[in-house]
Amino acid sequence: MTDTVAGAVGAAGMDEEEEMALQLGDTAPNFTADSTEGEINLYEYLGDSWGILFSHPKDFTPVCTTELGEVAHLKGDFDRRNTKVLGVSVDPVSSHTEWAGDIKEATGHALNYPLLGDPDRKVAGLYGMIHPNADNTLTARSVFIIGPDKKVKLMITYPASTGRNFQEILRVLDSLQLTANYSVSTPVNWKDGEEVIIAPAISDEDAKVKFPKGFRTVKKYLRYTPQPNR
Ligand code: BEZ
Repeated sequence: MTDTVAGAVGAAGMDEEEEMALQLGDTAPNFTADSTEGEINLYEYLGDSWGILFSHPKDFTPVCTTELGEVAHLKGDFDRRNTKVLGVSVDPVSSHTEWAGDIKEATGHALNYPLLGDPDRKVAGLYGMIHPNADNTLTARSVFIIGPDKKVKLMITYPASTGRNFQEILRVLDSLQLTANYSVSTPVNWKDGEEVIIAPAISDEDAKVKFPKGFRTVKKYLRYTPQPNR
């Protein structure tokens, strides 16, 4: 297994011309890095699971403390979705380990997933987590959802001053896992259990067979059906 994937963004410091931003559908770059739970190889850690790789700017900072505690709180929700979480920042593991006590004290939730140390910015470089015009040294609040096929399924980047909404990340996971198995997509503000949209490429005739719960047609290209896996 290689440590990087051809075509991905190179480590920080690589010639700008050689850099190619990671995009949806790309293979998630593999890496091996130290973490609060020992050395981790991304692909081995994920196995056949889905994965969430998320970066935070800096240890011992307020917003990051709330986020990392919340992800620990939601670990069961990620487990139920067969999804492994992995945090990262440019701080070293020794700093993460020291900070872990604060996270438990401040949020009531002890870290129950690994945090990668990335002082040489290897992971940050591979995933384009440093946005120099926002901050030249710290990792932004990036989130990557990685599918069991190791492809990047979602990328979101938040500024340092805005804590993420991890309920939204769970919601997208639900959508991705549903749409991976059925010919549907999910409408605005959709939540697990609500109606979904039948792919326009499916004829009405085929839709009757594929979606036995029935469907309602708003426009020829907009047909709703009850969530098929419920
Ligand atoms: C925070 O987690 O509160 C934070 C970290 C870096 C910059 C700004 C805020």
